[in-house]
Amino acid sequence: MTIRALIFDLDGVIVDTARYHYIAWREIARELGFRFTEKENERLKGVSRMQSLDILLQVGGLQLTQHEKEQLAEKKNAHYLTYIERMTAGEVLPGVLPFLAEAKEMKLRVALGSASKNAPLILEKTMLSPFFDCIVDGNDVNAAKPDPEVFLKAAQLLEVKPEECLVFEDAEAGVEAARRAGMWCVGIGSPQVLSAANLVIPGFSGFSVRDILEKFNSK
Ligand code: BG6
Ligand code: MG
Repeated sequence: MTIRALIFDLDGVIVDTARYHYIAWREIARELGFRFTEKENERLKGVSRMQSLDILLQVGGLQLTQHEKEQLAEKKNAHYLTYIERMTAGEVLPGVLPFLAEAKEMKLRVALGSASKNAPLILEKTMLSPFFDCIVDGNDVNAAKPDPEVFLKAAQLLEVKPEECLVFEDAEAGVEAARRAGMWCVGIGSPQVLSAANLVIPGFSGFSVRDILEKFNSK
């Protein structure tokens, strides 16, 4: 077995946008008249925009119509975009750039597999677009993680088999999606939270693609 493709989640793996999502959702909660804490925000990681809103409304004990929900999601995104539009290459998480450069140099296929509908804009702002052979994001899938659709679509576009793909994920739902896709998965974060991953590292700093692939190839 040989890994031929690397598939990266975006938020929490390549950039730390959780703070911006939090500020924007907190503002919506404030307008609706309840508090939304940073701890509660943890539940939104890796989850789609509409599912995030459902969790937020559950926290506030509110039930809204589909139309009201769509308006709120749009409002949240407009607020979120004011932060995203100001993002720079300086916000790429430590070690990511050399890791992507090494993957390119090794002629591995590289894809993005993200729940975010803002993924292309974030890659453009952080100047990372050239590293990706394809982008599959929240605009391209019907089922959100933990459904494997996003990763299976990426493998299809890269013309590789699922078992030749290694996914990098920071969210439990994302790790589950990768495993359900029949792919290998490196968790980025804590081994306690991401216990379903094949390997967990705290971040990319100090890790080379070669070191990581050695642990997977011909397993
Ligand atoms: C994921 C984030 O990557 O994208 C979630 O971890 C977010 O927190 C989701 O809700 C959807 O993002 P967006 O940019 O389409 O609202
Ligand atoms: Mg993530």
